[in-house]
Amino acid sequence: MRKMIVLNSKSNFTKDEYIKYLKELKKIKYDFVLAPSYPYLALTSGIALASQDISQFPSGAYTGEVSGNALKSLEVKYAIIGHSERVKYFNENGKILREKIERCLENDITPILCMSETVDVTKGVSNNIVQKLNNVIGRLKEKDRKKVIIAYEPYWAIGTNKMPTLECLNKIFGKIKENFKENKVLYGGSVNLETIKTLKKVDLIDGYLIGSLSLNIDSLKELINKI
Ligand code: PGA
Repeated sequence: MRKMIVLNSKSNFTKDEYIKYLKELKKIKYDFVLAPSYPYLALTSGIALASQDISQFPSGAYTGEVSGNALKSLEVKYAIIGHSERVKYFNENGKILREKIERCLENDITPILCMSETVDVTKGVSNNIVQKLNNVIGRLKEKDRKKVIIAYEPYWAIGTNKMPTLECLNKIFGKIKENFKENKVLYGGSVNLETIKTLKKVDLIDGYLIGSLSLNIDSLKELINKI
């Protein structure tokens, strides 16, 4: 099956830069999921959209928040939840993540739940990834839990060009898949033209969440050719 590829542009691009980027991106023959900054969602058509976040609250008096209802009306199909940058800079905890997932499900938006080990797996494999996932999605009804896409994203690998070894990846993805048999599981964190060589060898990876490399169309084209 074709790998799912989610492009996270984070807080990059002015409006004009984004329009130029989108035009070039559409020339690549691949069914990407694109997660641009909130305002650009409304400028985009012809490509599956993800939001980089979603409000934990329903629509109403929550200044500055973007509700699931608003995202649904923009035909957003996916929402990235709990990215490590949100955990780090906005102190998102398990309760907030659970609420955000509920808002997604109420609005037919598929949550892409990012989860990281707390321990640097290059220094010793940590076992808590399954426990951490269970803390967020363990209490969901089976029919809802299986809708969640899990993105395993070691926080120390994001934007650093570092990556777990092949052995660690096989072990971690094996463990996640063993416990969440019906969920799609992506890898994110320094997916680039070098690391893809190792990532490709891990059969259990269903796709990739790509940050920095996704901003460069030429590199993205090259990456697609390598997958
Ligand atoms: P990166 O970001 O590809 O730049 O490491 C990945 C992410 O933030 O999900």
